Amino acid sequence: MAGPASDQVASVDAPGSGAADGLPWHVWPLGSRLNEAGRIEVGGCDLVELAREFGTPAYVYAEDDIRTRARAFLDAFRARRERFEVVYASKAFPCTAAYELLAAEGLSCDVASGGELHLALRGGFDPSRIYMHGNNKSEAEIAYAVESGVGHIVADSFDELERLERIAPGQRILLRVTPGIKPSTHSYIQTGQIDSKFGFSVEEVPRAIESIRNLELRGLHAHIGSQIFELEPYEKLVEVLARLGDYPLLNLGGGLGIAYTREDEPPSIDEYVDTLVRGAPEHVTVLCEPGRALVGNAGVTIYSVGTVKEIPGVRTYVAVDGGMSDNLRPMLYGSRYEAEIASRPGGADVCTIAGMHCESGDILVRDVGLDSPRPGDILAIPATGAYGHAMANNYNAVPRPPVIFCKDGDARVVVRRETYEDLTRRDV
Ligand SMILES: Cc1ncc(COP(=O)(O)O)c(C=O)c1O
Repeated sequence: MAGPASDQVASVDAPGSGAADGLPWHVWPLGSRLNEAGRIEVGGCDLVELAREFGTPAYVYAEDDIRTRARAFLDAFRARRERFEVVYASKAFPCTAAYELLAAEGLSCDVASGGELHLALRGGFDPSRIYMHGNNKSEAEIAYAVESGVGHIVADSFDELERLERIAPGQRILLRVTPGIKPSTHSYIQTGQIDSKFGFSVEEVPRAIESIRNLELRGLHAHIGSQIFELEPYEKLVEVLARLGDYPLLNLGGGLGIAYTREDEPPSIDEYVDTLVRGAPEHVTVLCEPGRALVGNAGVTIYSVGTVKEIPGVRTYVAVDGGMSDNLRPMLYGSRYEAEIASRPGGADVCTIAGMHCESGDILVRDVGLDSPRPGDILAIPATGAYGHAMANNYNAVPRPPVIFCKDGDARVVVRRETYEDLTRRDV
């Protein structure tokens, strides 16, 4: 049975549309479906077959999902104004293949470290279309950005302005502003409030502008946070920044939320872009920096079930061969996810999906309905495309999973699985 994804752009714009089989398809990559064998297919590839071929855990992406969402952003802007840029916030999924794909789609790129800059250049981004962020860029990172011809550096503090004057004379910059706006999302991913390590307060902006001698100030930037479902904070943001002066560029950051669970209904890309551009004068180039909204729903993590532990009257733990090393978000933010057994989706046996790490808190999903899980089942957790691979680590010396891109039934490994040998590669 097909999910709603066949009608691709429409489902980008109408998340939450349910399918007849009752599965929450809007959290799955576009084009996902149940195949004739009753198994979940992503990018035309059967998840059970992928597990057999590439092993588990593995990050599986539907390539077309990323493309479709990138185009939805571009189309939404194009329909409304001439001057805009869609900037991929690459911290969400810093993977060479993703940089290549999004550079080819015509996006610009946000990097927040020398490492991300290196990957963006490797991935083929034109350096002039790269925006370099960070609240504490080192001198070496600034020098690397200058040597590489990075188009804009986003200045974050008075100390950094002084550093930029010294190391990057003549560089085009934006000023990062902390606009005093607090959207409702997890406090760790709120960034626009006064009490923030990022940027200049609204009161400091005039002094910062006055201090600039030999840099080219091209505009203002603000990022108010992540996984945001409300649009009003963005309306307010445009107002606050517009009051700070008229510049060629207005970068409104990222943050558009995505559906992680069946209850989540974020605004559409179209509604979001409409809000961003509404208050901005025509002559200004409006930029936004989506990360999660481009790649989050494109990715699914597949695991093998190893043990099922039933504690009568208490809980059933279904343990998988990954956990907090491949997805840190549940531990960092208490993030919630859906999960399905790839060969028997649906089901009502309430289970807790536990990771394999030496922490009781290594729980991937709490209280999810599965169909009598057993060892050997392939378990899939959707909406893991953003900040999963990006935050992967080697806790318990567990090798990091591969990244597999799927399209029209073909699967290609774009990042191989780490090996035990890799774990000793940096030893001296
Ligand atoms: C400056 C900046 N821009 C964009 C983003 C992307 O956010 P999201 O993935 O929520 O769209 C972030 C995330 O931390 C950020 O710090």
